[in-house]
Amino acid sequence: MEHRKPLILGVNGSPRRGAAAKALGISLEAAAQVPGVETVQIDLAGKEIRCCTGCNACRTRGLDHCPVFQDDFAAEFFPLYLGCDGILLASPVYSMNPTGLLMNFLNRMRPAGGSRSPRGMAGMRMGGCIAVGGRRNGGQDTALAAMNAALQSTGTNVVGGGVYFYNGAAVWSQNERAFDDPTGTLELEALGRKVAWAAKIVQAGLACLEGQVSAANCAGFASQEQMAQARRQLGLT
Ligand SMILES: Cc1cc2nc3c(=O)[nH]c(=O)nc-3n(C[C@H](O)[C@H](O)[C@H](O)COP(=O)(O)O)c2cc1C
Repeated sequence: MEHRKPLILGVNGSPRRGAAAKALGISLEAAAQVPGVETVQIDLAGKEIRCCTGCNACRTRGLDHCPVFQDDFAAEFFPLYLGCDGILLASPVYSMNPTGLLMNFLNRMRPAGGSRSPRGMAGMRMGGCIAVGGRRNGGQDTALAAMNAALQSTGTNVVGGGVYFYNGAAVWSQNERAFDDPTGTLELEALGRKVAWAAKIVQAGLACLEGQVSAANCAGFASQEQMAQARRQLGLT
């Protein structure tokens, strides 16, 4: 198995570079302090990410990507997503939810939800989420729940924070582009470090188990044959 530095991808789902970009930067900085971990931040602001239309061309053709739209998601973001070992999603809270921009991004990940990434181990990706609200209790929890669920639906393992950050990092920006939120900052740093350590440990574990663990195992199946059978049962190609 290819051995390389674990990569943590940070995705800022705000339509502008403001408080969510700052929050994501703090979390990625903490992640980068874990020895050997690399990080990269992408900002969705101003990028073309077409809405999934549910045409199911990816499914019917058995592809792990959308064959229809050649936009910024396809060109820039999808390769980064496929190649990362951990992912940190950050969004401003919009109407107590993540932004539509981030949801577009997450919906476009759908075809990669199996375990057919180039490295074959997509089921072992780790993740965590960040919600930045203008109010102290403006829906950070509901936004985090939506983001966590979307990550899980693409096979990512969402880390839990216990008393340190519960279901993700919740930040209060007071509607400013920057923020002064010591509790939120603590949560951002703990989340970033935990996702980085978890990704590093998983990668080391996969290397130790080389030859003993398959892509089918990582997707939850005993064998390739059993996974193929499950795909037929679920109507997947
Ligand atoms: C359309 C819209 C809806 C918003 N809805 C909420 C909300 O439900 N709860 C909340 O706390 N803040 C809400 N806000 C405020 C933003 O979450 C907050 O200002 C955030 O820090 C913006 O992040 P940014 O600087 O990265 O864009 C909303 C802002 C906009 C523009």
